[in-house]
Amino acid sequence: MELKQQAIEVLRTNNRNGYTVPTATGLYPAQWNWDSCFTALGLAQFDPPRAVVELETLFDGQWLDGMVPQILFRGDDSSYFPNASVWQAGPTGRSSGITQPLVAATVVRRLFEHSPEPAIRQRLIALVPKLLAWHRWCYRARDPHGTGLVSIIHPWESGMDNSPVWDDALNAVEPGPSVAHLRKDTGFAAADQRPTAPEYDRYINLVIRFRDVGYRLDRLYDISPFRAADIGFNAILQRANQDLLFLLAVSSDAAGATEIAVMERATGDAILRCWHAEDGFFYSVDARSGAVIRKPGIGGLLPLFADAAIAARYPRLVQRLESWLNDVTFAVPSFDPRRLEFEPRRYWRGPVWLIANWMLIDGLRRNGRPDLAERIRCDSLALVERAGFAEYFDPLTGEPLGGSRFSWTAAMYLHLSADTE
Ligand code: DGY
Repeated sequence: MELKQQAIEVLRTNNRNGYTVPTATGLYPAQWNWDSCFTALGLAQFDPPRAVVELETLFDGQWLDGMVPQILFRGDDSSYFPNASVWQAGPTGRSSGITQPLVAATVVRRLFEHSPEPAIRQRLIALVPKLLAWHRWCYRARDPHGTGLVSIIHPWESGMDNSPVWDDALNAVEPGPSVAHLRKDTGFAAADQRPTAPEYDRYINLVIRFRDVGYRLDRLYDISPFRAADIGFNAILQRANQDLLFLLAVSSDAAGATEIAVMERATGDAILRCWHAEDGFFYSVDARSGAVIRKPGIGGLLPLFADAAIAARYPRLVQRLESWLNDVTFAVPSFDPRRLEFEPRRYWRGPVWLIANWMLIDGLRRNGRPDLAERIRCDSLALVERAGFAEYFDPLTGEPLGGSRFSWTAAMYLHLSADTE
């Protein structure tokens, strides 16, 4: 069967009555926030109405305060830890109590611009007030002092769970009781490709602390022993702010646009302050201590996705990306391959993720580097052609890693094979 057809088959197999599980193997038996957004880009290639449904079901899980959770549990979640009965979060008790990168407005805009169909456009525009409420929540809950940079309170919120960028801040969190025996993920994916036991103990201890305060918006930021102004999360948010401004203009919501424009300016300025001139890289900041986290993770390249003038302003950033690529076979490793912490097979400590590649491809094109974007696009397609729809890939060997028959990899394959502009 042709690979595109196989990608469609993956998305059909992973379809669960209106939402798509990241993989049908049992590793992630629920709806994940940014997985659904990226998956919608692939669904749009062969079934645009279904792509809209993917986003609508995600926003059905929005909390009253505006947060859209990282996970929406639906159906049998017994193969996942921590599942709904551990989280005990949200109005229905069927979600996690934290969020994930706010990529949705960017995807909604993209689908809107590529759908001539008025009924689809109307349904996408109906999501705009929900997007606005989520962005508003993000600033209120995660930037209470108005710095322009929002903070994550759990590594899971970054989507890049075990990136070396979080090592020190996570080590400072009490581990709590060991949960190694409760973990389910290592039953589905090799343990040396997943976060470690000490990391998991801390991940769960954070969940318990948040659960103890009932996930209250006005408490979490202050009580969390982990608080980081993640450069990747902020860059994705900033791009989404711009795309939301576009959607608010289409919706004729002038008041909403004025509000987002203020946030957009503040975050744009704050991202520039994360530039580290000596190292020539964008870094996250530990928001508890104020210390710059001098660890070059892929999030530090994402300002390219947020700002079309970044490459011209900071040419060293793109040189840095190019030097990473010289050290691997397949673009783009999720962490600087020259650093000691680089692990080419372990989750976000080195492997290639096609969703990160897509953001960089888009950003490099906007920044006048279509040549480099094309190189990353070709590598992304080649990885799937050699190794299938794996969750992530070894940047040195191209080996498939993590879960298999993965929705967002299939979606990115469909999207990137069609998207040659
Ligand atoms: C997991 O369970 O590994 C997820 O990355 C959390 O979002």
